[in-house]
Amino acid sequence: MSELVNYTKQGEIGVITIENPPVNALSPGVPEGIAAGIEAAANDSEVKAVVLIGGGRTFIAGADIKEFGKVTSGEKPRFSLNSVLERIENSSKPVVAAIHGTAFGGGLETAMAAHYRVAVLSAQVGQPEVKLGIIPGAGGTQRLPRLAGVAKAVEMCAFGEPIDAKTALSAGILDKIVDGDLLAGAVEFAKNVIGKPAPKTRDRNEKLQDAAANTAIFALAREQARKTRRGQMAPLAAIDAVEAAAKLPFAEGLNREAEIFRVCLFSTQSKALIHAFFGERAVAKIPDIPKETKTYEIQRAAVIGAGTMGGGIAMNYANAGIPVIVKETAQDALDRGMATIRKNYENSVKKGRFSQGVMDQRMALITPQLSYDGFEQADIIVEAVFEGMALKKQIFGEVDAIAKAGCVLASNTSTLDIDEIASATKRPQMVIGHHFFSPANVMRLLEIVRGKATSKEVIQTSMQLAKKLNKIGVLAGNCRGFIGNRMIHCYGREAQFLVEEGAAPEQVDGAIYEFGLAMGPLAMGDLAGLDVGWRIRKEFKHLEKPGVRIPHMADRLCEIGRYGQKTGKGWYKYDAERKSSPDPEVTALIEQVAKEYGIERRAITHEEIIERTIYALVNEGARILEEGIALRAVDIDIVYLNGYGFPAWRGGPMFYADTIGLKHVLAKVEEFEKRHGSDLWAPAPLLRKLAEAGKTFEGWDKERESAAGA
Ligand code: 3HC
Ligand code: NAI
Repeated sequence: MSELVNYTKQGEIGVITIENPPVNALSPGVPEGIAAGIEAAANDSEVKAVVLIGGGRTFIAGADIKEFGKVTSGEKPRFSLNSVLERIENSSKPVVAAIHGTAFGGGLETAMAAHYRVAVLSAQVGQPEVKLGIIPGAGGTQRLPRLAGVAKAVEMCAFGEPIDAKTALSAGILDKIVDGDLLAGAVEFAKNVIGKPAPKTRDRNEKLQDAAANTAIFALAREQARKTRRGQMAPLAAIDAVEAAAKLPFAEGLNREAEIFRVCLFSTQSKALIHAFFGERAVAKIPDIPKETKTYEIQRAAVIGAGTMGGGIAMNYANAGIPVIVKETAQDALDRGMATIRKNYENSVKKGRFSQGVMDQRMALITPQLSYDGFEQADIIVEAVFEGMALKKQIFGEVDAIAKAGCVLASNTSTLDIDEIASATKRPQMVIGHHFFSPANVMRLLEIVRGKATSKEVIQTSMQLAKKLNKIGVLAGNCRGFIGNRMIHCYGREAQFLVEEGAAPEQVDGAIYEFGLAMGPLAMGDLAGLDVGWRIRKEFKHLEKPGVRIPHMADRLCEIGRYGQKTGKGWYKYDAERKSSPDPEVTALIEQVAKEYGIERRAITHEEIIERTIYALVNEGARILEEGIALRAVDIDIVYLNGYGFPAWRGGPMFYADTIGLKHVLAKVEEFEKRHGSDLWAPAPLLRKLAEAGKTFEGWDKERESAAGA
């Protein structure tokens, strides 16, 4: 047996237990250990049936994702999971998989090679491989339709969402739900199947037979995948593999699955999605803040401002079961804020996301008021008033006078200096930025901004709080715009320049949408409100460098009341259903602005739009990295995937640059520098350094990680 797999006996039942914490992934040693367990049971005449179970918190959560990188960089896989699963399936003694936690990916595939599957009620099963840009690679696309039927298999393999034990039981994936102790229940189940023929999933063809129905299922699934997984290859590949199950004998289907799996595994999309998977977990690790750092308990919250952001932030606390006060200056603003919160919850109830009862509980946790009453009990106070330094400092001064010791003081500012805000208090160590993204109740990103005095305890508290609020917390240093908005400023600037130079707004947005972002920059401006940026630009007017080109269009649109969707017109005009269309008034204004500033209009290519906007992100991202504003390149990527709708299958702007090749990116940046000037396009020194050394941002992260660990 291997160290990662135990074999024991309970009378006539052999028990194979996987012990590979934390999630019992199929790392090297695990499949071999399972095979050895099956072998031991086969050779033991006392043993009549076998239970396969996970030790610790879960059954097998899948293949070891870390191994994929080794395979794609040329290492030979040490074992074939398929051959181990074949041994399980060919066992003459029935094998019962006993599932708790998550049987995902290779875990569910292992369970399906067993002859029976039992699970506790809280278990989940799924084939989430598509979320990593691959497809099930150990028979999942072949065995799942044989157990659950083609429609369910397509749904699970192509879209990757897990299902609960009850659903899995009714789909035919599970044979029984066990009450009480799982091992005891599974052993009992195994005793009852001794001597009965052990059903091999590979032979169960009944659910594959209806060719006409299958054709319709595949067509519909492809249509859905193209719509909801725009640009991604794995969902369509998974459908192809399930189709092979429906059309080919098992062994041929398995070969087809292996071919498709390999194509996906070697794709850039898969590398990008795996980068995102580990990145999401890496951002929680802060080199100078050990895991055991003390944290403050957050049991009561208070939010100042019930506008676009304050309302959404309050909802996050209520959703996590934390009572929250919302304070406003005037009754009408408070009523408006509460009405929006109520409407958002009602929409969720209508869509069946949760019940009216849950909504009532959440609403009851939110206390709207005009005073600071109760703020002295809050463990955290989050400020979300207008973006203006004077106002923010006034609020922090007021809050400092009433908050208890140990209360975290957070600002939702999107651009302002956290240190200056903190200077309005006598406890700058308690002040931190909590930069939520709009809509704050939906977007998963929380940029956590560290001021120079912010204590480690306050940072650690914030990182843990992010998890509790179901957010991904990314730590950022203090600078104008932090990570996300500092970069988006450059991207938005280029989008506007492109319009002034000759591209139509819909051409710029169209190119970015096609690249894979949820929305183009100009449409995004219309959605967020162009006046927000206008207000910020006025605040920072004194910082503009004379002689450096600035974009004019957004300000000019605001000057004529075109604030975006909220006024029915911005870069586009909007109808009653908020459908946008190009507006001749905007075209005329663009031409006028270009004339006023002597900007030559020319034809702009799709390629130039992508390079100007995305490389602007990358170049600024490289500066942010070098300055230590972001801890790692992957932190920047995670910010962009979760806060800005950057497509996960491109891995984020920094990873995307790696895939293009930093040499090429640098050459383009240098070309733009020549054309548009060094103030806007001087290559970031880190970009130059890496490009010239033939390195990548990902490699840079790794080098620093190993230097820190050394
Ligand atoms: N391989 C390698 N490491 C894994 C892993 C896997 N399959 N699943 C989780 N981990 C690691 C995480 O990176 C994390 O490491 P860290 O502590 O060093 O950061 C640790 O295990 C714990 O993971 P989480 O923090 O995510 O723990 P949670 O309890 O929040 O979630 C989970 C557990 C639901 C299992 C979640 O980790 C998950 O979804 N994992 C991925 C599951 C998956 O995609 N499986 C399919 C793999 S591909 C496959 O099986 C191919 C096959 O068809 C051949
Ligand atoms: P908003 O204008 O929608 O809301 C601000 C609210 O604060 C208003 O309701 C106002 O009445 C209230 N307010 C002003 N002074 C107050 C006081 N003294 N006490 C209590 N309430 C007061 O603004 P929005 O968009 O919610 O922005 C708030 C903050 O969030 C700003 O700092 C902004 O930069 C930041 N932010 C905004 C994002 C967005 O997309 N709108 C995204 C991320 C951060």
